[in-house]
Amino acid sequence: MQKVKNTFTLTPEQIVTIARAFASEMTQGLLGQKSSLKILPSFLTRPTGNESGHFLALDFGGTNVRTLFVSLAGQGKYRIEKSLSAPLKDPAGKYDLIGGGTDAEALFDFIASQVNTVAKEGSTSHLGHTFSFPCEQIDLTTAVLLNWTKEIKTSGVEGKNVTALLDRALARQGCGTITCRAVINDTVGTLLAAAYQTPHTDIGSICGTGHNTCYLEPVSPLTGRPMIINLESGNFDKLPLTPYDETLDRQSKKPGQQQLEKMVSGRYLGELVRLVLADVSERFADILPSCLFVEPYSLDTKELSVLLADETQDLAAIEAWLASTLKVYLPLEARRLMKEAATLVTTRSAQLAAASYLGILFKIDPEFTQPHTIAIDGSLYEKLPGYAAAIRATLTAALGSKASLVNVILTKDGSGVGAAIAAAIGEK
Ligand code: GLC
Repeated sequence: MQKVKNTFTLTPEQIVTIARAFASEMTQGLLGQKSSLKILPSFLTRPTGNESGHFLALDFGGTNVRTLFVSLAGQGKYRIEKSLSAPLKDPAGKYDLIGGGTDAEALFDFIASQVNTVAKEGSTSHLGHTFSFPCEQIDLTTAVLLNWTKEIKTSGVEGKNVTALLDRALARQGCGTITCRAVINDTVGTLLAAAYQTPHTDIGSICGTGHNTCYLEPVSPLTGRPMIINLESGNFDKLPLTPYDETLDRQSKKPGQQQLEKMVSGRYLGELVRLVLADVSERFADILPSCLFVEPYSLDTKELSVLLADETQDLAAIEAWLASTLKVYLPLEARRLMKEAATLVTTRSAQLAAASYLGILFKIDPEFTQPHTIAIDGSLYEKLPGYAAAIRATLTAALGSKASLVNVILTKDGSGVGAAIAAAIGEK
């Protein structure tokens, strides 16, 4: 376990090195040179806070599709009037719109039917669309999917303009009057929603099933003016990998891609913990039966939460969870190993996310002359015990007294409210 600990622990120097590498990949990307970061323009800058009106918001992130009816009242005030959510893969197995066996038409017909349901009850036909995948945009409403991430395989979407796919599906549903006013990434939605209310917001990030960050670039290479840029930072790859990261990558659908995301996001954290435990159990088979850790992706963030949350001396909550779900009893020493594996993997995830934020700050304000707000949404940041604190601690360790200039906030509903704000801007 000490060996495992050594491979997962990042020293403060390593974190700063990663942050510097991140900043230099940003510079390369902005100059149009080879970089693992994408520089995807959003055609948006910070909102004023006075955007107003009623909007439909569509949030497509890969697990669920959510449609909202949002009222923006200006002065940073908004209300979510209605919200409808449906899974893209039926838990009962009746349909799967994100697997290899489905195509764009089936997927977008489903999405359009959800929009239609909410639109019928509302009073607007203006829609903002949060589509949380790497897209090349040529304007606010044209977004071409570059490649699927998050292990999605639906055919016929990569290389296509998703707004056109949605428009055609809406027409098929008989609601062709609904018009998409803006399409954005969820990180951009998070930044917009936070900036609507909180000053100095210049970074928006998701720490959930996926991981990615956008920021307000003061001088966009496209316009020479400020613009929010989606970095698709999940693809950042100047990182020290452990053997577990290498195994996970090899066994993933797209080896070599989305390296940072594979080390940070909720989609993969449980699997990293499983790989560690499968390895450790070979040496401690008497207390930690390896058969518990055979099935790939059998641990997810809900289980990690149980492991991380148990602060009791005898790890009683973990014992109870093992008894009820896996029907096993494991001695205290084994429960400790499980908790430790979860802690190592989760702490490193938070540290790497923080390193990428540091990289952006080094790039946009090297002297730290201004206050900055980092807005984060996602289940890891919101719910995983210790996660938000580990991000804060990493920033403080790296920045010392300057860390007081950096405000980190949870921004819920960024994907919905941000889409509405973008649509309000698009309307103008
Ligand atoms: C994946 C997507 C990215 C998205 C993130 C969070 O990394 O590629 O576009 O922002 O997940 O949902």
